Amino acid sequence: MDLNFSRLIMGMWRIGDWGLSPAGVADLIEACLELGIDTFDLADIYTGYQCEAMFGAALAARPALRPRLKLISKCGIALVSAARPAHRVKHYNTGRAHIVASVEHSLAATGAERLDLLLIHRPDPLMDADEIAEAFGALQRSGKVAAFGVSNFLPHQLDLLQSRLESPLAANQIEVSLLHTTSLFDGTLDQCQRLRAMPQAWSPLGGGRLAAEPVDTPLGRVLARLGEELGATREQLAIAWLLRHPARIHPVLGSGKAERIRQLVEARRIELDRQQWFELLEAAMGREMP
Ligand SMILES: NC(=O)c1ccc[n+]([C@@H]2O[C@H](COP(=O)([O-])OP(=O)(O)OC[C@H]3O[C@@H](n4cnc5c(N)ncnc54)[C@H](OP(=O)(O)O)[C@@H]3O)[C@@H](O)[C@H]2O)c1
Repeated sequence: MDLNFSRLIMGMWRIGDWGLSPAGVADLIEACLELGIDTFDLADIYTGYQCEAMFGAALAARPALRPRLKLISKCGIALVSAARPAHRVKHYNTGRAHIVASVEHSLAATGAERLDLLLIHRPDPLMDADEIAEAFGALQRSGKVAAFGVSNFLPHQLDLLQSRLESPLAANQIEVSLLHTTSLFDGTLDQCQRLRAMPQAWSPLGGGRLAAEPVDTPLGRVLARLGEELGATREQLAIAWLLRHPARIHPVLGSGKAERIRQLVEARRIELDRQQWFELLEAAMGREMP
């Protein structure tokens, strides 16, 4: 399924840390659009269940932005929060009623008429795939969600859900980066490539840890050398490394600073050759390829 999302996606998980007014968030959204990023990643739970309302307030302040955006949201995690007093313990809920109610809340909070993509945030050990299929069917028929996917699913978990669905799952949003390489080897990215589902990479800079990588580690040294050869920052190399993967990984960026987003967009012009890609992988893993 062709989601037609920008190759880089803007993540809004940290919106509560940015200290921005609605106009400030609108400025950031506008800057992303000008840089060619038209897809925004939200979730019901981000910022203590406030992220979607903060995003909606920015769009209310600048409504002309609204038709230019594509929205992803997620559901399925239930946090203990003042915003959800009925939750006694952190748990997962992928029951039909929870999914439908969560989407209705996402639409009301953001002011959107529909979500372009809804993801089940994490695999739920009590997942009843038939129930999720019913919820997805109802949301698709009502026009509230255009496409469906998952997040943090291993191949067998995605297969289970897919077995009950008529339409293909469009995406799996996973942790993958130079600081987290598991999905290259556990079948997750192979499955995305086989199904032509969109892998979306969360924390593509390791949640900021890449910036703190010491210069005298194997990874620090390769980043410095390639950075000099290619005229790139270590963050740009990390994004270029993800973009080089044949499953067409879509990195989900997490900075709240327009200038940093602009620099990361520049990573699209860096073409790592096969050996440079493997140098980074080996340095990231701390061992040679077998
Ligand atoms: N599906 C899931 O389970 C899941 C889990 C986690 C995240 N996500 C999604 O993934 C998105 C991205 O995750 P993330 O925020 O951890 O991404 P990230 O890009 O790995 O980390 C962003 C963090 O790195 C910091 N940073 C430090 N130096 C930077 C530089 N030179 N350039 C850019 N950033 C730099 C940023 O700070 P500044 O803001 O100060 O620049 C920010 O705090 C989230 O917003 C969310 O949408 C999904």
